[in-house]
This record gives sequence, structure tokens and C-alpha cells, in this order.
Amino acid sequence: MILSDILEGIEGIEIKGNADFDVAEIKCDSRLVSENDMFVAIVGFKTNGHEYISNAIEAGAKVIAVQRDNWNGEVPNCEALIVADDTRKLLALSACNYYHHPSREFKLVGITGTKGKTTTSYMIKKILEKAGKKVGLIGTIANMIGDEEVEASRTTPESIDLQRLFRKMADEKCDVVVMEVSSHALALDRVLGCEFDIGIFTNLSQDHLDFHKNFDDYFSAKAKLFSMCKDGYINCDDMYARKLMDIATCTITTFGIDNNPYVSARDIIITNSYADFKMPFNKVMQRIKVNIPGRFTVYNALAAICATVKLGASVENIIEGLEEVTVPGRSEMVKNDRNLTVMVDYAHSPASLESILKAVKSYTKGKVICVFGCGGDRDKTKRPIMGEIAGSNAAYTVIKSDNPRTEDPKEIVKQIEEGIKKTKGKYVVIVNRKKAIEHAIRMAKKNDLVLIAGKGHETYQEINGVHNHFDDREVAREAMKKLPESKNDDIYAW
Ligand SMILES: Nc1ncnc2c1ncn2[C@@H]1O[C@H](COP(=O)(O)OP(=O)(O)O)[C@@H](O)[C@H]1O
Ligand SMILES: [Mg+2]
Repeated sequence: MILSDILEGIEGIEIKGNADFDVAEIKCDSRLVSENDMFVAIVGFKTNGHEYISNAIEAGAKVIAVQRDNWNGEVPNCEALIVADDTRKLLALSACNYYHHPSREFKLVGITGTKGKTTTSYMIKKILEKAGKKVGLIGTIANMIGDEEVEASRTTPESIDLQRLFRKMADEKCDVVVMEVSSHALALDRVLGCEFDIGIFTNLSQDHLDFHKNFDDYFSAKAKLFSMCKDGYINCDDMYARKLMDIATCTITTFGIDNNPYVSARDIIITNSYADFKMPFNKVMQRIKVNIPGRFTVYNALAAICATVKLGASVENIIEGLEEVTVPGRSEMVKNDRNLTVMVDYAHSPASLESILKAVKSYTKGKVICVFGCGGDRDKTKRPIMGEIAGSNAAYTVIKSDNPRTEDPKEIVKQIEEGIKKTKGKYVVIVNRKKAIEHAIRMAKKNDLVLIAGKGHETYQEINGVHNHFDDREVAREAMKKLPESKNDDIYAW
């Protein structure tokens, strides 16, 4: 595309050189540059793209974009130099121009919040598919078009990759695209130029403060979405809802349980395998059942209902979609005919382990048995903390190996043990992940719940750089098959 078309409508830039140059592609990683590309230098957290300009030119870049406060005043040997106030903004907006604003060709739903983004996005997708729509999904687990997975990636891709993915979704005639929008993505302008039809706010808690300077910064990042969308749906039971509504520029509808929301649930029933509630549709009370237990499921379902009603789903689509939806590795129930309750969850940080343990404890009639470990080559300080959390919340804990990577798993579990020893919680250490899961399942009785936390949807275990196939759900299913037909609880009493 001709450079001047790529830069159409973008403010805060100065062009030196040939604006008629025909650019092949736009890149922000010098290692990916090829002949006639435009290279945009971004100041990253680990690396600064401005240091790689000569590499980009060597690789064939003919247009170079620099950020004014990082520019050394030199004009590199190229067709055109762009000096921009902010190269992240430039990258995002030029990506929109380059891919012809794909988000205008479908309805775009953005979901932000600390928790519940992935779950809500799966609910929306399922309901809309019941309504016959083709749905694209962009998020933590995968990027999808219908049932087909397209380039897996991080929670929200770089702007240039995002617009390319949007283009693919538009070309494949997606009616709706549902996207998790992380606070990082909003803060780093990765979604700048996207035309959101719907924005959803699930909740806000003090996660991710390692990245954001402070909580206000984190809040402002999330709030950006509500100046970028047409219709906003906000969980009014969250303590930040009011503040968000005050600064939002879109129309706002509230959902929730308390605090007099516009869209609300009543007669809520939470069991160890589902959440069930009632709500009126066109003045007729309907029962909604979701096979994901936990009070938070009601919030996620309400958010999904708000968005899908707006996008034309019927009450039948909603009831069927929510009854059938499963989210890989998010409070995922492992089906079995042994009357056991086994859940696989992605919780792998202290906050998320505590939150899922508290949630399952609140509705489990029997005991909660927690199986978990911590990954190697990552934050070591969380290991004893997670040990303490498991010991204080679960009746019994099986400490096992996670992804040891290059560390000795025995050392990792020792550090977890340090924390659990401080509590009165009973525990056992079984480093072998498969044996640990089998042990927990053998112990479980009818009203107990086995929580296998940490890896969620992952289907591998990483040991010394090798990904070995390992699926918690598969292992749990196999372990249950091995149990005697009529499991005599007394034999396994503990
Ligand atoms: N609305 C919610 N409020 C609190 N916790 C939630 C909520 N939704 C899900 N969770 C918990 O958080 C975990 C992660 O949920 P997920 O949908 O993957 O969130 P995200 O994509 O925002 O990280 C779930 O397994 C569940 O334990
Ligand atoms: Mg997610």
C-alpha cells in the first residue's frame, strides 16, 4: 500500500522523504522485516526497537518510523522517515488503514476486567452460534473462527497482528468477533482504532500491578474501552462500577445481583456442578442453567446475556447456549459415571488459587481436595504463599509437579511445603503429576470435590524444554475409569 494511504488521517507525525513509496508490509520486529517493509520502532519493556533500525534496513526496510523522544536526529538511508509523537499509536492506526478497517465489517465485542473475560467470551460465542451467527474469538486460550483455531497467541495480540487477524475474520464473513481486551492492550494502545460495538466490564481487583504503575493507572486502562465502544455493560456489584460509569462516554446498562441492576438474576441456586437462576425475558420468567458452578458464573452469564440480546439472540438461543457452554480449563467439570466431582482449573497464581478454593468451598458439601504444583523458572516467591493458601482452604492437599522446566521438581515442591507447614491443612507430596491426580481421585467421596489447579486447558508438561503430552482432564478421566464400579467409600476413608 502507498505510504500516504497508510498514514491517512494519523495525527502527530512528520514525514521526511517519499510518501508515494509502495510499502510491502508493516513490521515492528526487525527480525521479521523483508524487502520494502515499513519498520516501526517501538520502545518496549525489554528491548527498544530504535536500536534495531540498522538491522531492519539491512533486512530490506524502506520506511522507518521513529518516536520523537527516541530519535537521534539522523535520517537513515531509506525512502521515507516518519517521526511520530507515539509509535505505538502510529503502529495501531496504520495497521487499521493497511488492513482497511476490518472491525467495521463485523460487530465487535470487547470484554475487560480482572476475571471472567475468557469465560464470558465463550458464553457469548456459544449463544450467538445457536442464533446461527459466525463468530470469531480472540483470547487467552485460542483465537478461533467458528470451530477452527487460527494462530494461538497472547491475550491481546500486537496491533498489527490483531488487525491482520481481524482482516481474516472479516474475509471469512464473521458476523461478530468477541475479544478479551486486557488492561495491557488498552494501556499500550494495541486496540486503538478498533470500532467496538459493545464493551463489557466484568470486575476489577488488584492483579497485574507489577505492570501498571499503580491502581489508578490500571483503572484508567480498563476505562478506555468505555470511550471506544457504543454500548457498555457494567457489573454494578463491583466497587469500581460507579467510577467507571462516571467517566464512560458510551451508553451504559448495568447487570448484577445486588445494587439494583438493570439486568438481574434471582432465585440463584449454586451446586457443585452448576449455577441456576431466573430472569425475565419480555416479562416472562425463564430459568437459566449453566454447567459451571460458582456465583461468579451468574455474573458472567448476565454479561453474556446483555451482549447477545443486543446482537439479536433469542431467549431459546440463550438458554441452550448457556446450558451447553464449556470453557476449557476454567472451572471445567470432568464428566464421569462414578458420581465424583472433579474440576480442572487454570488457577496458577496465589490470588486465583485462593479465589477458586473459596468458591468451591462455598458450595461443596463434603471436603475439598486440592491437587496443585508450581511451575519452574518463574516467580519462586509465590510457591510458599500458594502452599499456605491451599493448606488454609482445602481439607487435603496433594502437592505435585507442574511445568518444572529446567528446575528440579523436588526442590519446587519443598518450597511449597514450607508454606503449607504453617497451616493445619493435611497434605501429601507426590511429585509425579499423574500419580498425584490418581491419588486424589482415589480419596474422593461422593460429596467431595477434587480441584486440579494450575494447568487448565494446557495439554503438555514442560520438562527441560520438551513439551510432553499431558492433559489433566484426560488423566483424571482415566483415573476414574480405573476405580472399582461401586466405589466403597470405606476402603478409601481418610
Ligand atoms: N466473574 C468472575 N469473578 C471472579 N472470578 C471469576 C469470574 N469468572 C471466572 N472466575 C474465576 O477466574 C478463573 C479465570 O477465569 P477466566 O474466564 O479465564 O478469566 P480471565 O480471562 O479474565 O483471566 C476461573 O477459572 C474462575 O475460577
Ligand atoms: Mg483470559
